[in-house]
Amino acid sequence: MAGQSDNIIVDMFAEVPKTYERINRLLTLGLDVLWRNKAAKMAASGGGTKWLDVCTGTGEMAIALKGLAAEGVEVSAVDFSDPMLSEAKGKKDAEGITFYNASVENLPFDDDIFDLLTISFAVRNINRSPEYFLGCLSEFCRVLKPSGRLLLLETSQPRCVVLRMLFHAYARFIIGPVGGMLSGSKMAYAYLSSTIPRFYSADELAGIIGQAGFKAVTFTRMTFGSCAVHIAEK
Ligand SMILES: C[S@@+](CC[C@H](N)C(=O)[O-])C[C@H]1O[C@@H](n2cnc3c(N)ncnc32)[C@H](O)[C@@H]1O
Repeated sequence: MAGQSDNIIVDMFAEVPKTYERINRLLTLGLDVLWRNKAAKMAASGGGTKWLDVCTGTGEMAIALKGLAAEGVEVSAVDFSDPMLSEAKGKKDAEGITFYNASVENLPFDDDIFDLLTISFAVRNINRSPEYFLGCLSEFCRVLKPSGRLLLLETSQPRCVVLRMLFHAYARFIIGPVGGMLSGSKMAYAYLSSTIPRFYSADELAGIIGQAGFKAVTFTRMTFGSCAVHIAEK
């Protein structure tokens, strides 16, 4: 059953599916597509036959994975927002992907099922508290096969102080107000812009992934460190 925080986030994402991708393109100047595609290639290169994208939203990462998958690879995707899932399922390229409505803290799968689990631009949403976040990461670990791979793509913190300040100012003064105006959901974009500056650095996030029981944690910074891909093994 969805908890109170789940309900707030479910309501928030119910307001944005129609404009979500266009606003992402605009606010990142198209970089979100490059970041996602690069991360999808890194994820797919690990092989395996059962892949899962969680917090899939409008399904862009799941569709990118499906496009890279060899024959016989099953791609599944999870989100707890029906409007976001409807948007994903309605896409022609989503054919063959199996979608599930579920919250990531309690995935509807047995232990040791997947070779790969991806999550893109949603880790900030499940970072409600250190305990909740660790619980979700442990849940990811549970459904992965031994040696299965986790890939997280998320905004990060540029190491250069000046760039970091500029990035935070961009989140606060551009992403929040412009996203709110274009989507009609001030709440969703105020939330988005407030979570970016508070999020972990790439090193801190690697440490947390390790605490959740993953090993061989590595990360790649992208675009001056404004974004990072973390990869780890169960
Ligand atoms: C910012 S969108 C990211 C969508 C997509 N992964 C992308 O790359 O654009 C975050 C998504 O995570 C979903 N979400 C947030 N918390 C969740 C949770 N606890 N369980 C399942 N889905 C969740 C939201 O419904 C939303 O669709």
